[in-house]
Amino acid sequence: MTTTDDPLDGIEALPQEMVFKPGAMPELFIPDAWGDDDPRYYIPLGPGVGSKPIWISPSKNAWVDILRAENAGLLQRHYHPHDVFGLCISGSWRYLEHDWVAEPGSFIYESPGESHTLVVEESGEVMRTMFHVNGPLIWLDDDGNPAGIHDAFTLIDMAREHYEAVGIGADYVDTLIR
Ligand SMILES: [Fe+2]
Repeated sequence: MTTTDDPLDGIEALPQEMVFKPGAMPELFIPDAWGDDDPRYYIPLGPGVGSKPIWISPSKNAWVDILRAENAGLLQRHYHPHDVFGLCISGSWRYLEHDWVAEPGSFIYESPGESHTLVVEESGEVMRTMFHVNGPLIWLDDDGNPAGIHDAFTLIDMAREHYEAVGIGADYVDTLIR
């Protein structure tokens, strides 16, 4: 029977001396990943929709971003050969292909082999969703045929160009790569 409500009572936690194994890369810490609504960090990805990368892995061809729409927005139809994880933070959105609506707190798992079209309807709330995307996205035309790709490498290119143009600097992208 415990005599205190403090679960740490009597426990001493010491830091690990060798934090990083040789060859390991440093951690990535962004204190306010989605609360920072500086629009310059959002790379235009579709009408009304921007993507703010917060982690990019060339070796996995994967990334984590905050997808954001100030008002209405559209992320054109695309196909995922690999899976995607999402967590809606604010606002709401849906896929034309499904009958559910993502709202704050909604978790979304997208299986490999899925095609969809992301729509944000005007709601008066800013839509923000964190996605972990295992790339690529394959853009589809009106007939469902491949019409281009978006992956970690196109993202890096777009991000360098965008951040240079808005005054953040192309080098900012390097801080996100692991
Ligand atoms: Fe998608």
